[in-house]
Amino acid sequence: MTGYTLDTFIEDCRKKICECQFPADCVEQITPVMYRLLNGDKSFLKPEHFRSDPDHYARNAIYIEEADTMSLYALVWLPGQWTPIHDHGTWGVVGVLEGNLEERNFMRVDDKGKNAMTGVELARGGVILLSPGAVTSFVPNPDHIHITGNPADGQRVVSLHLYGHAMPGFHIYDREARTRKWVEVSYNES
Ligand SMILES: [Fe+2]
Repeated sequence: MTGYTLDTFIEDCRKKICECQFPADCVEQITPVMYRLLNGDKSFLKPEHFRSDPDHYARNAIYIEEADTMSLYALVWLPGQWTPIHDHGTWGVVGVLEGNLEERNFMRVDDKGKNAMTGVELARGGVILLSPGAVTSFVPNPDHIHITGNPADGQRVVSLHLYGHAMPGFHIYDREARTRKWVEVSYNES
Protein backbone atom coordinates (compact mmCIF):
# COMPACT_ATOMS: atom_id res chain seq x y z
CA MET A 1 0.00 0.00 0.00
CA THR A 2 2.75 2.42 0.93
CA GLY A 3 4.22 2.56 -2.57
CA TYR A 4 1.04 3.81 -4.20
CA THR A 5 1.84 7.15 -5.83
CA LEU A 6 -0.04 10.02 -7.45
CA ASP A 7 1.16 8.97 -10.90
CA THR A 8 -0.18 5.44 -10.42
CA PHE A 9 -3.44 6.84 -9.05
CA ILE A 10 -3.90 9.11 -12.10
CA GLU A 11 -3.08 6.26 -14.46
CA ASP A 12 -5.52 3.92 -12.68
CA CYS A 13 -8.28 6.58 -12.76
CA ARG A 14 -7.68 7.31 -16.44
CA LYS A 15 -8.03 3.62 -17.27
CA LYS A 16 -11.16 3.16 -15.15
CA ILE A 17 -12.83 6.28 -16.57
CA CYS A 18 -12.28 4.92 -20.10
CA GLU A 19 -13.79 1.58 -19.16
CA CYS A 20 -16.82 2.92 -17.27
CA GLN A 21 -20.12 3.50 -18.99
CA PHE A 22 -21.96 5.31 -16.18
CA PRO A 23 -20.89 7.76 -13.46
CA ALA A 24 -21.95 5.21 -10.83
CA ASP A 25 -19.46 2.76 -12.36
CA CYS A 26 -16.71 5.41 -12.14
CA VAL A 27 -17.25 6.08 -8.44
CA GLU A 28 -17.56 2.37 -7.68
CA GLN A 29 -14.21 1.76 -9.38
CA ILE A 30 -12.40 4.86 -8.15
CA THR A 31 -13.52 4.92 -4.49
CA PRO A 32 -11.12 2.08 -3.49
CA VAL A 33 -8.37 3.70 -5.54
CA MET A 34 -8.81 6.97 -3.61
CA TYR A 35 -8.67 4.97 -0.38
CA ARG A 36 -5.40 3.48 -1.57
CA LEU A 37 -3.99 6.92 -2.39
CA LEU A 38 -4.91 8.22 1.08
CA ASN A 39 -3.00 5.33 2.60
CA GLY A 40 -0.14 5.38 0.12
CA ASP A 41 2.91 7.52 -0.58
CA LYS A 42 1.73 11.08 0.05
CA SER A 43 5.00 12.74 -0.93
CA PHE A 44 3.13 14.29 -3.90
CA LEU A 45 1.52 16.70 -1.43
CA LYS A 46 3.51 19.94 -1.47
CA PRO A 47 3.20 22.98 0.82
CA GLU A 48 1.15 24.76 -1.88
CA HIS A 49 -1.54 22.08 -1.60
CA PHE A 50 -2.10 23.10 2.03
CA ARG A 51 -2.72 26.80 1.31
CA SER A 52 -5.69 28.14 3.24
CA ASP A 53 -7.66 31.37 3.01
CA PRO A 54 -9.05 33.20 6.05
CA ASP A 55 -12.15 34.25 4.06
CA HIS A 56 -13.31 30.92 2.62
CA TYR A 57 -12.22 27.32 2.10
CA ALA A 58 -9.32 27.04 -0.37
CA ARG A 59 -9.19 24.88 -3.52
CA ASN A 60 -5.65 23.94 -4.49
CA ALA A 61 -5.25 22.16 -7.82
CA ILE A 62 -3.11 19.03 -7.76
CA TYR A 63 -3.82 17.65 -11.22
CA ILE A 64 -6.18 18.68 -14.04
CA GLU A 65 -6.42 16.33 -17.02
CA GLU A 66 -6.13 18.21 -20.31
CA ALA A 67 -8.94 16.18 -21.88
CA ASP A 68 -11.33 17.47 -19.18
CA THR A 69 -12.09 13.96 -17.94
CA MET A 70 -10.88 14.45 -14.38
CA SER A 71 -9.40 16.91 -11.91
CA LEU A 72 -7.90 16.49 -8.47
CA TYR A 73 -7.87 19.21 -5.81
CA ALA A 74 -6.78 19.51 -2.20
CA LEU A 75 -9.39 21.51 -0.30
CA VAL A 76 -8.35 23.19 2.93
CA TRP A 77 -11.08 24.12 5.40
CA LEU A 78 -10.38 26.30 8.40
CA PRO A 79 -12.75 25.97 11.37
CA GLY A 80 -16.16 27.44 10.48
CA GLN A 81 -15.63 27.35 6.68
CA TRP A 82 -18.38 25.74 4.59
CA THR A 83 -19.49 25.54 0.98
CA PRO A 84 -22.86 26.99 0.03
CA ILE A 85 -25.58 24.43 -0.71
CA HIS A 86 -24.53 23.06 -4.10
CA ASP A 87 -24.59 20.25 -6.65
CA HIS A 88 -21.76 19.26 -8.98
CA GLY A 89 -23.03 18.28 -12.42
CA THR A 90 -20.56 15.41 -12.46
CA TRP A 91 -19.40 12.47 -10.37
CA GLY A 92 -16.85 12.90 -7.59
CA VAL A 93 -14.80 10.94 -5.09
CA VAL A 94 -13.67 12.64 -1.88
CA GLY A 95 -11.09 11.39 0.62
CA VAL A 96 -10.11 12.98 3.93
CA LEU A 97 -6.45 13.59 4.69
CA GLU A 98 -6.63 15.54 7.93
CA GLY A 99 -9.36 16.54 10.44
CA ASN A 100 -13.05 15.66 10.30
CA LEU A 101 -15.00 16.81 7.26
CA GLU A 102 -18.73 17.23 7.79
CA GLU A 103 -21.32 16.77 5.06
CA ARG A 104 -24.99 17.80 5.40
CA ASN A 105 -27.24 16.44 2.69
CA PHE A 106 -30.35 17.82 1.00
CA MET A 107 -32.97 16.30 -1.28
CA ARG A 108 -34.86 18.12 -3.98
CA VAL A 109 -38.59 17.61 -3.32
CA ASP A 110 -40.36 20.01 -5.75
CA ASP A 111 -41.90 18.80 -9.00
CA LYS A 112 -40.21 21.36 -11.30
CA GLY A 113 -37.71 18.89 -12.72
CA LYS A 114 -34.11 18.38 -11.66
CA ASN A 115 -32.72 21.12 -13.91
CA ALA A 116 -35.25 23.87 -13.10
CA MET A 117 -33.62 26.99 -11.69
CA THR A 118 -36.67 28.34 -9.83
CA GLY A 119 -39.37 26.89 -7.61
CA VAL A 120 -36.70 24.78 -5.95
CA GLU A 121 -37.68 23.12 -2.73
CA LEU A 122 -35.09 21.29 -0.64
CA ALA A 123 -35.60 18.98 2.30
CA ARG A 124 -32.79 18.50 4.79
CA GLY A 125 -31.20 15.08 4.82
CA GLY A 126 -28.64 13.26 6.89
CA VAL A 127 -25.25 14.32 8.21
CA ILE A 128 -21.99 12.46 7.70
CA LEU A 129 -18.72 12.96 9.57
CA LEU A 130 -15.70 11.81 7.62
CA SER A 131 -12.48 11.12 9.53
CA PRO A 132 -8.98 10.85 8.02
CA GLY A 133 -8.81 7.90 5.66
CA ALA A 134 -12.55 7.93 4.91
CA VAL A 135 -13.79 8.15 1.31
CA THR A 136 -17.19 9.24 0.02
CA SER A 137 -18.57 9.75 -3.49
CA PHE A 138 -21.49 11.12 -5.46
CA VAL A 139 -23.04 10.92 -8.92
CA PRO A 140 -25.13 13.34 -11.02
CA ASN A 141 -28.63 12.98 -12.54
CA PRO A 142 -30.26 13.46 -10.15
CA ASP A 143 -27.47 15.45 -8.63
CA HIS A 144 -26.18 15.06 -5.12
CA ILE A 145 -27.01 18.23 -3.15
CA HIS A 146 -25.10 19.10 0.01
CA ILE A 147 -22.96 21.44 1.99
CA THR A 148 -19.54 20.38 3.16
CA GLY A 149 -17.33 21.99 5.73
CA ASN A 150 -15.52 22.21 8.98
CA PRO A 151 -17.46 22.81 12.23
CA ALA A 152 -16.36 25.97 14.04
CA ASP A 153 -14.82 24.06 16.96
CA GLY A 154 -12.72 21.81 14.74
CA GLN A 155 -9.10 21.81 13.64
CA ARG A 156 -7.97 22.37 10.04
CA VAL A 157 -9.49 19.89 7.59
CA VAL A 158 -7.75 18.82 4.37
CA SER A 159 -9.51 16.65 1.80
CA LEU A 160 -8.78 15.33 -1.70
CA HIS A 161 -11.52 15.79 -4.33
CA LEU A 162 -11.47 13.99 -7.66
CA TYR A 163 -14.15 15.11 -10.14
CA GLY A 164 -15.24 13.79 -13.53
CA HIS A 165 -14.22 17.02 -15.29
CA ALA A 166 -12.27 20.22 -14.54
CA MET A 167 -15.01 21.44 -12.18
CA PRO A 168 -14.88 25.17 -13.04
CA GLY A 169 -18.05 25.82 -11.08
CA PHE A 170 -21.19 24.38 -9.59
CA HIS A 171 -24.85 25.13 -9.01
CA ILE A 172 -25.63 26.80 -5.73
CA TYR A 173 -29.04 26.84 -4.08
CA ASP A 174 -30.83 29.60 -2.18
CA ARG A 175 -33.45 27.93 -0.01
CA GLU A 176 -35.23 31.19 0.83
CA ALA A 177 -35.45 32.41 -2.79
CA ARG A 178 -36.06 28.81 -3.93
CA THR A 179 -33.48 29.21 -6.71
CA ARG A 180 -30.55 27.35 -8.18
CA LYS A 181 -27.82 29.17 -10.13
CA TRP A 182 -24.48 28.44 -11.78
CA VAL A 183 -21.42 30.05 -10.21
CA GLU A 184 -17.79 29.77 -11.20
CA VAL A 185 -15.38 28.75 -8.47
CA SER A 186 -11.76 29.75 -8.34
CA TYR A 187 -8.76 27.64 -7.43
CA ASN A 188 -5.07 28.04 -6.72
CA GLU A 189 -2.85 26.58 -9.37
CA SER A 190 0.01 24.26 -8.47
FE1 LIG B 1 -19.73 19.08 -3.03
